Amino acid sequence: QDPAWSFVLNGQPVSLHCAADQRLLTLLREHFGLAGAKPGCEVGRCGACVVWLDGQPANSCLLMAWQLQGRRITTIEALSQAPESVPVIAALAQCGGVQCGYCSPGMVMGLTYLHQQPGMDAANASALMCGHLCRCTGYGGIQRAIEVLFP
Ligand code: FES
Repeated sequence: QDPAWSFVLNGQPVSLHCAADQRLLTLLREHFGLAGAKPGCEVGRCGACVVWLDGQPANSCLLMAWQLQGRRITTIEALSQAPESVPVIAALAQCGGVQCGYCSPGMVMGLTYLHQQPGMDAANASALMCGHLCRCTGYGGIQRAIEVLFP
């Protein structure tokens, strides 16, 4: 039988049996029914799959089950209900930073994390968001949202 992995998912302790090399992105979407994290490149380059691992952004396509033991995972399903994401979601919506929406969950995970960092400015936030690609190439609206969030 596969080993059991226990971790905290969106504030709830969870445990499941699966192979050690099952990817978190797959587990979220196929086992837990959480489809907010999106498969894009699946090699850690596009940011569509970003979640928080112990409060910091991480590519769920690169995280394997064995790495989750005892850790804390937050997905867009929980973060989008939390007050800290409200200004980020509003800025993206008001600035035209959402087109097809495929990258938006990852963008919100990344931007909300940066928005909580003391002393962050627009130039640094923009540079640090380089791991989030928009397949619509809608970077103008996303950049305007960054300038609203980091005045
Ligand atoms: Fe994980 Fe692209 S799907 S970074």
